Amino acid sequence: MDTLGKTITCLAAIAWKKNSLSLEKVEVEPPKAGEVRIKMTSTGICGSDDHTIKGIISVKYPFIPGHEGAGIVESIGEGVSSVKPGDKVLTLAVPQCRECSACLHPKGNFCEKQDLLPSSGLMLDGTSRFTCKGEKIYHSFRTSTFTEYTVVPEISVVKIDAAAPMDKICIISCEVATGYGAAVHSAQVTPGSTCVVFGLGGIGSAVVMGCKDSGASRIIGVDINEEKFPRAKALGVTDFLNPSNLKKPVQEVVNEMTGTGVDFAFEAIGLTETMVAAWDSCNLSHGVCTIIGVSAPDLKLSLSAVEVFTGRTLKGTCLGDYKTRDCFPQLVTAYLQNKINIDPLITHQLPFDQLHKAFEVYHAGKTIRCVLLF
Ligand code: APR
Ligand code: ZN
Repeated sequence: MDTLGKTITCLAAIAWKKNSLSLEKVEVEPPKAGEVRIKMTSTGICGSDDHTIKGIISVKYPFIPGHEGAGIVESIGEGVSSVKPGDKVLTLAVPQCRECSACLHPKGNFCEKQDLLPSSGLMLDGTSRFTCKGEKIYHSFRTSTFTEYTVVPEISVVKIDAAAPMDKICIISCEVATGYGAAVHSAQVTPGSTCVVFGLGGIGSAVVMGCKDSGASRIIGVDINEEKFPRAKALGVTDFLNPSNLKKPVQEVVNEMTGTGVDFAFEAIGLTETMVAAWDSCNLSHGVCTIIGVSAPDLKLSLSAVEVFTGRTLKGTCLGDYKTRDCFPQLVTAYLQNKINIDPLITHQLPFDQLHKAFEVYHAGKTIRCVLLF
């Protein structure tokens, strides 16, 4: 293999500053000890990537965005044992080090080696593997998948079934785990229950799928973009609400529609007002509100204090609470065995060099998920 041990020059997307994304030739160094260099095959455009490019989620500029990725291992650094060159892999926005308190806890998945909160933009040794025009380029979430080659820590990558279709499977690493997982694994939606899903983009659509697969009897979908409604209906939404057309707050309407509030509410947008609305849509005694959306780090939620003691649960979830290296290969296998159908969650596929077009379609609100192919 002629790239082994050498710096690779390839095409990558760089956010030089807020709201500026350009395709550049970058140099990608070989992996150091405990690291893996991956030749990307596909990556999805997630709402969180848009948030990083816009500077809503705090990151270091200039950086290479992207976290929802699939690829093939090109080379490995010293000591790497869980993957080898040629393996099909997924990148992990939250790693699994298997040593920290979160990894050792039976339920936790927010590994202490994550680089989201706060984000250093650097590998575990405090350095970057990317340069462009002589300048150091930061990583995002230690995944940076908007590039033909990336380098990630071994704990941020997992081998998947060799039969996995690489043009689609990337969405398991965020959209499916995050959305579907929020419903079936984090909230554990029960048969016959009522649900409301705020946001019917990529993540919200996967939540709807999880609610439906769990046997929910009613799924209320909330979005300001009615173009999202037909696809959401096909996935299982039974009632739609567009908050901008309502004369009263959306939570009041949800409470009237259900009589007592829903059993399960999900927020898949990342706005504090929709998080509060999701909470206020829940049944006072047993409702479970699951927050999936990522908001800016300095924002606070304001909830009616007296309505907290009544028994409701407010829960956050990241990547469906799945321990990523243990569980993501199982999700891939479940897809290959036709136990989860991820296909309807991908509405667009474009070559990587048409990244700008892909963002245009995303910003126009046309996509559930647009996947870039390398
Ligand atoms: N009320 C209702 N719906 C809204 C509102 C609002 N105020 N603002 C935006 N939306 C809808 C959009 O129209 C879109 O359909 O929310 C949806 C967001 O979907 P995407 O942009 O596709 O984002 P997605 O990838 O689904 O991520 C959603 O989850 O992982 C997190 O960080 C991510 O916070 C983001 C959220
Ligand atoms: Zn994501």
